[in-house]
Parts: sequence; C-alpha cells; structure tokens
Amino acid sequence: MKTYKKRFSKHIDELKWLYMELYDDEESFKQLCSRMETFYRERDSLLKKSDASREADPSWYKRNDLLGMMLYIEQFAGNINGVRSRLDYFSKCNVNYIHLMPFLDTTPGKSDGGYAVKDFRKVQEKLGTMEDLRKLTTECHEKKISVCMDFVMNHTSEDHEWARRARAGEKEYMDRYFFFDSWDIPARYEATVPQVFPTTAPGNFTWLEDAKHHVMTSFYPYQWDLNYKNPVVFNEMMFNFLFLANQGIDVMRIDAVPYIWKELGTQCRNLRQVHTIVRMMRMIGEIVCPGILLLGEVVMEPSKVVPYFGTVEKPECHMLYNVTTMATTWHTVATRDVRLLKRQLDIVNALPKDYVFLNYLRCHDDIGWGLDYPSLREEGIDEVCHKRYLNDYFRGYTGFSNSRGELYNEDLASGDARFCGTTASMCGIERAACEGNSQMMEKAVRMDQMLHAYMLVQSGIPVIYSGDEAAQLNDYTYKEDPQKAPDSRYLHRGAFDWSVLEKLDDPESVQGQVFSMLDKLEKIRKSDPVFNNDADVWTIETWEKEVLSIGRYYHGEKLVGVFNFSEHDKTAWINEDDGMYTDLITGREMKACGVDIPAYGFFWLRKNA
Ligand code: GLC
Repeated sequence: MKTYKKRFSKHIDELKWLYMELYDDEESFKQLCSRMETFYRERDSLLKKSDASREADPSWYKRNDLLGMMLYIEQFAGNINGVRSRLDYFSKCNVNYIHLMPFLDTTPGKSDGGYAVKDFRKVQEKLGTMEDLRKLTTECHEKKISVCMDFVMNHTSEDHEWARRARAGEKEYMDRYFFFDSWDIPARYEATVPQVFPTTAPGNFTWLEDAKHHVMTSFYPYQWDLNYKNPVVFNEMMFNFLFLANQGIDVMRIDAVPYIWKELGTQCRNLRQVHTIVRMMRMIGEIVCPGILLLGEVVMEPSKVVPYFGTVEKPECHMLYNVTTMATTWHTVATRDVRLLKRQLDIVNALPKDYVFLNYLRCHDDIGWGLDYPSLREEGIDEVCHKRYLNDYFRGYTGFSNSRGELYNEDLASGDARFCGTTASMCGIERAACEGNSQMMEKAVRMDQMLHAYMLVQSGIPVIYSGDEAAQLNDYTYKEDPQKAPDSRYLHRGAFDWSVLEKLDDPESVQGQVFSMLDKLEKIRKSDPVFNNDADVWTIETWEKEVLSIGRYYHGEKLVGVFNFSEHDKTAWINEDDGMYTDLITGREMKACGVDIPAYGFFWLRKNA
C-alpha cells in the first residue's frame, strides 16, 4: 500500500480541486477515493509489477519499436480464444500492440459496431468471456504485446440497465441521461449542436413513445448520451474504467471524448469540462494503474486536437490520433499535390516531441474530409466542391482514379459526404484485379507500398488496420446483412481471409508484394535509431509538387525519405549535399540531390556513416 499512498498523495489535491469544481460533492468524492483503493487492492500482482516498471520508464511507449494493428475480434479470428491462437501472426507482422475493436456486450442490430455498450463488465457472448480476455491479455504480455480497447464513455446502449430503468421512469436513472418531457430545451440544443450522422441518424434527440420523453442521442437513437453533470455517472464510469484496466488492458481508447460534456447554447464539443474530466481520469489512472495509457479519439482539426494532450504539468491523454494528417494524405493521393500535406506535417513536426500521435492510413471509420480549408481557399479551392471531387475521385469517377469505395452519410442538403474503403481498394488494387490489368496492378501496389513507407517515416506509433498488411479489398457482402446494410463503414470491416497466409510469402502475389515490403519497412523502423520518436523531423522542399520529402535527424544519424504521389516519374529537386546516402530498401548508394524517382516510388535514404 506504500506505493499506492505515495501516488495518491501526489495527486489528491489537484484531483479533489477539480472534482469539487465540477460537482461540489464531498460524499461522492469520498466514494470515488475509497473505490479507487479497492481497485488497486484487486489489481493483479503481475500488472502491478508492469505498472512499476513503466512508472520507472515513463517513455516506454515513445520509442520506435511499437507497431500497432487494429482489428475486430470476430472478423479476425471468430472470438477471443481465436485471437489468442493467432498471436504468432502478430509476430509475423512485427506487431506488438493490438487494438481490439469494441467487444463488450451490445444488442445485435443496435450496436454501432460495438460502440453501444449494454454492460461494461461483460464480453459479447459470441466473442467469449472476461476470463478469456484476461487469458488473452496475460498471454499477450508474456509475448510483450500491449492490448488496447475502447472505453465508450459518452453514451450507453438503450439496453443498458441504467437506460432500461430510466425508460421505466426511475428518476435516479433518468438523471444519468438527458431526459426532457417537452421539445423546448431539445429545440434550443438543436439550434447550436451539429449532427454526427446527418443521414443515418439525423438530429440529436430521440422521442421515446413509451416513456413520453425526449432523450439526447448525439450518435444513433439507441446510443443515449450520459450526463456527466451527475457525479454518480462520473464515479460509476470511472469504476468501469478501472475494472477494465484490471483485466490487463494497456491502452484505453477514450471514444468520442470531445462530446462528453453538454451545455445549452454551445456546440457541445470540446468544452472546458471535458478537459477537467480527462485530466481527472489521467490522475485516477496514475494512482491505481499507472501502466496504462489513455488514447483520445478526437476527430477534429489540429487546433482542437492538441489541447487533449494537456500541459507538461497537467497532462491529459498520452496519445492522440493524427487524424488531419491521415485525411490530408488521401487528399494528396487524389490531387497529386503535396503542398497541403507538407504544411500539415510542418504543424505536427513543430509540436513538442512529448506529444505522441498514432499514425494510420485507414481505420474502422469512414474518412471525413477534415482538411485545412482556409489554406485551400487561398488556392481558389472551395470546400464543398473539393469534398465532391475527393468523393468522386475515390469512387473512381474522375481524376484518372482507379480507386473503389462508397460514400458514407451523404448529406444532400449540404453536399457533404464521407468516404469508406480499404487502403488496397483505394489504391486501385481492387479495380486492377477485377480487370486483370497487370500494368494498373503494378502502379496500385507501388502506391500502397509508398503510402505505408510514408506513414512509417513519421514519428509516433504506426497502426496498421488489420487486412491492410495483406492488401485486403473492400467487402461488399455487408449489403446482404440487413443489420449492416445501412452503414457503409462495413465495406472496410470485412473478415480476414486466412487462406491469404500462403500468399504472404509468395513474392509473385499482390499480397506477398505488399506484405514483404511492409515487413521490410517495419523491421528497419524498429531497429534503426533514426526512427526514434525524439528525432528532429522536418519536410524538405522538392520543387516538384507531386513529391514529398521528409528528413529525420537523431544523434548524428540522418534519413531523407522521398515519396512520389504521382503516376509519372519525377525528380525531387532536393539538395542535401552532405555526402553519400544508401537507400535502405534496395541498398543502392546515391546522393540526396536531384533524386529521380519513379511513379509512386519512394526512397528511404540513410546518410552513410
Ligand atoms: C467513434 C467510433 C465510431 C462510433 C462513434 C460512436 O467515433 O470510432 O465508430 O460510431 O464513436 O460511438
């Protein structure tokens, strides 16, 4: 208990201050503290050991040896035990961090891919049990694999016990949500709050005919927003968080975090109180289970994302998604113009190196075109027209595109829409395979490899979306399942096809070409100190708008990455005239000056010793 007391006394003053500021409720605070201690006592001794070693080495997640993969348990291996039987595959993929997409109890057909949780302490029956989860995390830890899960704290499923009791009219439970018996207040919210799913779930409220009340539902009508103005909600959700941490979870992805505090007359996004809550969560974690990391899901523009890191003295999230960079990457693919991406990378590279971003090309969600429109406007590019172009481009309609995919939540009123598809399909592999066009295939594979090489050259934690390592294509079968058909995000949530395994080692196959390139890049990234997170990273002017160049420098080691985003051979007019370089992929020696680069080619040029 000595360790606990020490951690507790380090944070208690600030924790209490913030708690009182929000809730002014001594009794609830006492309850929070006493339960925190209980969760600490219940925490497994192996986890406590890992907490201690991570506390002693707080930068453990900031090196260049972490590589993530995010996956749906069912789509990947049927159930939790299936995942456990496939741990070798992660080693084969150089992966030592797995994000298990939502697996807690939910109602089929009303699950939002698992993001509508019915019971925070129960695993979906078809996937297994808490016991299975503990076995999986234990075995992962033995193999030095960290495990991430989603903590969906903004809302519960309408089938959660609290929701059922609220619906039945129990005041105590109604107070855990936002219930209104008339449209007066909801109407005032609707005047200022934007919509998350304008097509599939319009509006921010749902009328409950049986309960004769409106309930706030920012996402789907079956996802009821929790009211964090109620200290019971905060406390109970923190207990759920600690319970899950005690199952051996290393990284908690806090879902939809900007939305968790609501205030009339605002957009109900990124409010000051959200930061208070995340800061309290960080401290609660540091007291009870300091080995765990908070990963914030903040799908917003950079100026809104960065505050979620908090400050050096008062940190909030350990890691955040590099979402604008991801969207800008695909914009660059469609425009063959790297200028916006260069500007975006300059913004990220100028941030303190303590800020750890999760880099990715694709994830389970759609791509919302959150770009730097003020900059684009200076070039005469209009937001609505540009989004239309991107969506047309990635559906393969225009711009010499071979991409395949579908729209998501098209808003006919505003002309807005988001996009779904896998990396391979968006690169043209699907179309080339369909048409049996080998030339098209060659370019598509090169683009896929180049995009991964570019993603892996950035600082932060790279995360591969399961299937991308094997060039998995869009899966159109979701349309046959009435529960999935209305949500086109299932297009890129197809089942992993294990028969692909044999192809991965076949250099002739498309899958093998993508897999072996990723393997090579990942191994270099893990072993070469120039990829250290503390390296200086900057972009280099190439005087060729289709070609991006990124420099890395760490303790005398230097690397220059060059990436051609066009289907034409180009020359990067860089002038790093400081000696000979070796391309880490081909072993070719060259100068980093006036580099000729083939269509969709790339180099990782390492300065010779
Ligand atoms: C997050 C998830 C998304 C889900 C939403 C609601 O944004 O990534 O898939 O629909 O939260 O929970």
